[in-house]
Amino acid sequence: MRKIRKMGLMILMFMLVLTAAACGKDTDTKTASKSESGPTYNFKLAHITPTDHMWHKAAEKFKEELEKRSNGRMKLEIYPASQLGTEADMVQQISAGSVDFGFITAAYLSSRAEAFTAWFAPYAFKDLEAANAARDTEVAKKILATLDNQNIKGLDYLFAGSRLMLFKEKDVQKPEDMKGLKFRVTPSPPLQDFYKSLGASPESLPLPEVYAAIQTGVIDGMDMDLDATITNKYFEVAKYGAVTNHMVWPAVAMMSKTTYDKMSDEDKKIINESIKAAANYSATTRSGQEKEFKKTLSDSGMKIYEIDQSLFEPYIKKFDEKYGPSNPLIKEFIDTFRK
Ligand code: BEZ
Repeated sequence: MRKIRKMGLMILMFMLVLTAAACGKDTDTKTASKSESGPTYNFKLAHITPTDHMWHKAAEKFKEELEKRSNGRMKLEIYPASQLGTEADMVQQISAGSVDFGFITAAYLSSRAEAFTAWFAPYAFKDLEAANAARDTEVAKKILATLDNQNIKGLDYLFAGSRLMLFKEKDVQKPEDMKGLKFRVTPSPPLQDFYKSLGASPESLPLPEVYAAIQTGVIDGMDMDLDATITNKYFEVAKYGAVTNHMVWPAVAMMSKTTYDKMSDEDKKIINESIKAAANYSATTRSGQEKEFKKTLSDSGMKIYEIDQSLFEPYIKKFDEKYGPSNPLIKEFIDTFRK
């Protein structure tokens, strides 16, 4: 009788060990476990925008596409609004392989991989559709590949709109009116340079600090996109909005190379096609919404207006002359799109 009880106990313990091992596999985001139709994955994706910004919606679209195309083998957990830290923290985690995916601003990347500067050539594209079409060019792909040596696979670009200029009190109608304004610009060398050349004093502030800075008068204005102007409620603290569309604003969809390189060609294809679907969704949805967004801002009391591109010509030239010779990919980009 004692022998039978002992055997029963051993069988029970063996089963517990097996269950624990199976659970461990499920919660490990980096290791794929095998299901009958192939490995299963629990991925993590991080980005900095709030959940109503287009990049978060694109992340949700990516999740949906991954699950659909992999028959449920690929799951994605999304960490929005800087939950995993700053973009520098996120890139470090992706490079180390503890986070699988990120949607990271090309602006931030321009300080880690110089070629991303190319995307900030002022007035390189006539509209968002033209910028979106540029995703498929050789030069855009070569720029993504410059991340390889950081153990990062650059997958694609996501556009949420072009940049505009917001001013707290001043009705700026020409570049010269910006002289001396304390102007928030994303911490990125080409953007800072562009605004310096306009005569503004660029203040390098990350997104989460911008609202309080303009509210309290630390800054007089900011470089922003229409989407974030609405989702972050900057219309509450800025009276004037010049819809200049002077630059595009890509996020780079990236993946840890540690994770990517271990996958089969079939699974890599699922990743690439899912991200492409999310990027197309992001750009096409947003390009149809500019009118509606401008109306939302006007209805909230802002003066929304345009400034003619011709007034910026000397500053465009300055940018090209400085950055074109600095890097062959930036030169190729400028030569490709300034026709
Ligand atoms: C910005 O830093 O201006 C920004 C970052 C992410 C999305 C939109 C704007």
